[in-house]
Amino acid sequence: MTNNPLQNSTSELLHQSSGLSIAEFIKVLVDKYPGKVTFSSSFSFEDQVITHEILHNKLDVKIFTLDTGRLFAETYSVWNSTNEKYHTYIKGYYPQAEELGKFVQEKGPNSFYESIDNRKGCCFIRKVEPLRRALAGNAIWITGLRAEHSPDRQNIPLVEWDEVNQIIKYNPILHWSTEEVRKYINDNNVPYNPLHDRGFVSIGCAPCTRAIKPGEDFRAGRWWWEDAANKECGLHVHGDVEVNADVEKSAFNV
Ligand code: ADX
Ligand code: SF4
Repeated sequence: MTNNPLQNSTSELLHQSSGLSIAEFIKVLVDKYPGKVTFSSSFSFEDQVITHEILHNKLDVKIFTLDTGRLFAETYSVWNSTNEKYHTYIKGYYPQAEELGKFVQEKGPNSFYESIDNRKGCCFIRKVEPLRRALAGNAIWITGLRAEHSPDRQNIPLVEWDEVNQIIKYNPILHWSTEEVRKYINDNNVPYNPLHDRGFVSIGCAPCTRAIKPGEDFRAGRWWWEDAANKECGLHVHGDVEVNADVEKSAFNV
């Protein structure tokens, strides 16, 4: 990959973030990269905290969601109630209809249960490729990643360079605990996904997410039929930049 001038600002921004509140640091980002700061929301507890920070403080950040077409009905309800509460419209990005149609016709509507390749292909078409379109032209990608959710997420920095997407990533609530997230949601009366009250911790697509039992790993409810090592959908890739290339080839050439 060629050296992207944006990459050079990553460590300086990480340094600048120290001591600032989330809203204060987002303001720094917005002033430095006007119109080029975007936030991806899956309407989880975590993402709703960030949405509230952005919309309550009227920060100029574009908020989007990846509508895979397979989300829970409850997730669409939170999307709707968030639009209403904050008088906004959170933009949806969708899979490319033709590619998705070919994939489903060839593999079947629930092929993700049959093999890891099919699962990764489905995630690629429904999430990863739309994410690329959503991030294109932006300098900063804000996410709701939290370290507690996965061992892979424990050592990532608050501000990091995303080599795959050639963008600076800011993970503001990376080190928040579940209790802190829940308290923030309650204290600020933020709309949230009622599935969080029914044992769902990490919420993705409906066929690939289930509730977990007390004491179970946070990711245990995602793609539960696969080995723990495979449990990433390709949105957040740390290190191996080639990881999506083969998946893309096979998903788009079914
Ligand atoms: S995933 O990689 O396993 O799917 P996870 O559900 O933990 O991700 O969410 C981590 C962050 O990824 C969220 O806080 C959000 O920023 C982003 N994200 C995940 N799913 C979506 C989605 N459907 N739409 C937009 N952003 C998403
Ligand atoms: Fe497809 Fe499941 Fe991935 Fe959603 S989480 S895109 S339904 S494989």
